[in-house]
Amino acid sequence: VSDVRINPSILSADFVNMERDLQRIGAADFVHVDVMDNNFVPNLTFGSQMTKRVQETSPVPLDVHLMINDCDRWAPTYAELGVASVTFHAEATADPVATARRVREIGARAGIALRPGTPAEFLYDILGEFDQILVMTVEPGFGGQAFQPQTMPKLSALAAHARAVESDVWLQVDGGINADTIAIAAENGADTFVAGSAVFGAADPDAAIIMLRELGET
Ligand code: DX5
Ligand code: ZN
Repeated sequence: VSDVRINPSILSADFVNMERDLQRIGAADFVHVDVMDNNFVPNLTFGSQMTKRVQETSPVPLDVHLMINDCDRWAPTYAELGVASVTFHAEATADPVATARRVREIGARAGIALRPGTPAEFLYDILGEFDQILVMTVEPGFGGQAFQPQTMPKLSALAAHARAVESDVWLQVDGGINADTIAIAAENGADTFVAGSAVFGAADPDAAIIMLRELGET
């Protein structure tokens, strides 16, 4: 079993052919679901009703990424859908520990996400409250942006800290991950890779997932 996880983002899927596109990514580890509120980020996608139908339809478990301001209210609602993980943003939450605990109590993995400019040090003391940390490698809001290499020192520092305290937290990257950039993120400690355009822009999404997984193995 590989420790490298590839999570295609359905932000790059065809929204009116979602069931068909979910069938094209059977090789994925998790399906990444980008929830945006046109408030925390300048874009609007879908909410809990759509996520519920994707959860009921997808053969692969869901990894929900909340890019919404009111995440402390909504994170438990998404966890209750039976998804594998719910990740909310550090810049949006008023109480990351309380929200993570509520998500875990419901039975989902709890994740916290950092915009490119948000430092990670505040997480060092509360690392045990989370199952995964999402280091954004673009400004959240849109697919198809270029990977920002200046986020790599934060990722490698987090990875070093996690190793030092023998944490098994997953380190996820999201934004601009493709065949050219995935190895850089892997070398800096990422083990979980979100990819939107690199998967759904490929002629064979499953083949793209398998190729990315091989390139992500350091
Ligand atoms: C961006 C989203 C990403 C996006 C990634 O705000 O969080 O998940 O879908 O898309 P690509 O892989 O095309 O950068
Ligand atoms: Zn995302």
